[in-house]
Amino acid sequence: MRINKFLALCGIASRRKSEQLILQKRVKINDRVVHNLATDIDPKKDIVLVDGKPVHFKEDFIYLMLHKPKGYITTTDDEHNRPTVMDLIKVPDDRRVYPVGRLDYNTEGLLLFTDDGELANILTHPSYKIEKTYIARIKGTITSEEVNKLRSGVVIDGAKTAPCKVNILRMDEKSTRLEITIHEGRNRQVRKMLESIGKETQFLKRISVGKIRLGGLARGKFRTLNKREIAHLNELKG
Ligand code: URA
Repeated sequence: MRINKFLALCGIASRRKSEQLILQKRVKINDRVVHNLATDIDPKKDIVLVDGKPVHFKEDFIYLMLHKPKGYITTTDDEHNRPTVMDLIKVPDDRRVYPVGRLDYNTEGLLLFTDDGELANILTHPSYKIEKTYIARIKGTITSEEVNKLRSGVVIDGAKTAPCKVNILRMDEKSTRLEITIHEGRNRQVRKMLESIGKETQFLKRISVGKIRLGGLARGKFRTLNKREIAHLNELKG
């Protein structure tokens, strides 16, 4: 098994972040520092250490959801000491979880956390096409042509977005409330899509990821996922 996949399955970090750990020379196999990202291991025989600590497969993963408020950065540690989403959650002392994907500083809503690297990969990698639904408020009105443009794809950062779902929830001269469902998760995708048709986003909130819904969780609060939600995530693993 590829070393970064093993580290993700053990809940150390996502596959991509695990590669960074390897590049930082923090990973050892059988007491030798790993240099090659393409290294394979045998989980039954090889002893893998991260920062000198042994790594094992884990079954009892932690799954949390947070209603992220505006004004928090989605990162596990900010070099400028700004408030991060980690300040809003609590996990047992010896456990570490990390955010699944990213909501930008001014975006609020549903943010999942886990130590299940395989699941984090499924939820964030575009190839799995997991739907994420957002409520956006834009300044002014929108025409049906503009809605259709968003639905069929617009060019952001030099590449066209995949077809998505867009519904108008409410509209008056001052502002319009839209429900937008995408499954790609590119950087600041919803804001950039709206910007590409000349719309200014005044408010953006994620209300669901796959079948997991934010529901009535208060802003700034977190909770563990219930059995039904965890069963749904396990179904995604196949
Ligand atoms: N799209 C955005 O523009 N921002 C987010 O945080 C998520 C999706």
